[in-house]
Amino acid sequence: MPNLFTPIAIGHVRSPFIKTSDIPKGLGAKHDAEGVLEILPEFAAGLKDVEGFSHFYVLWVFDQSTDFDLVATPPADNGRPHGVFATRSPRRPNPIALTVVELLRRDGAQLQVRGVDMLDGTPILDLTPYLSSVRAEGLRRGWLAEAEKRGRGCNERS
Ligand SMILES: C[S@@+](CC[C@H](N)C(=O)[O-])C[C@H]1O[C@@H](n2cnc3c(N)ncnc32)[C@H](O)[C@@H]1O
Repeated sequence: MPNLFTPIAIGHVRSPFIKTSDIPKGLGAKHDAEGVLEILPEFAAGLKDVEGFSHFYVLWVFDQSTDFDLVATPPADNGRPHGVFATRSPRRPNPIALTVVELLRRDGAQLQVRGVDMLDGTPILDLTPYLSSVRAEGLRRGWLAEAEKRGRGCNERS
């Protein structure tokens, strides 16, 4: 086994979500909740020049997950099974998550952001500017596209 590094938190998320059930899930869920990324003082110098970017990837830890499943049943697909690596399940072999947020404001070492989907107190591993170079027409959305099509069908019938 290679000698992997030991991750450290560079800060924590302040979010309106206390329980996982508070966080919007499933098809059509909107992720527009505001929160704060509180960066620890010893890493604050790393925030120089962040103001120039509108969006960031936040790499964070599913610290409340206790185990993993190689087959997940996402709420967005009514419990149909998919390999964990084809989902965003919090129950993964390495409990690492990725969320794109919009930077609204910087107050010193606190970044006010929109788009949080993590619990209050969640540890942050890294921040890096979001610079997507993939054209929308080059993206395939796998089982999610099928689930969205089925969802539209349901809405049309109702
Ligand atoms: C579906 S995951 C997606 C996370 C991230 N955007 C990604 O794609 O990696 C979001 C869910 O993770 C769960 N969650 C949020 N914060 C968590 C934490 N600190 N520990 C464990 N689970 C968490 C909640 O159930 C939330 O709805």
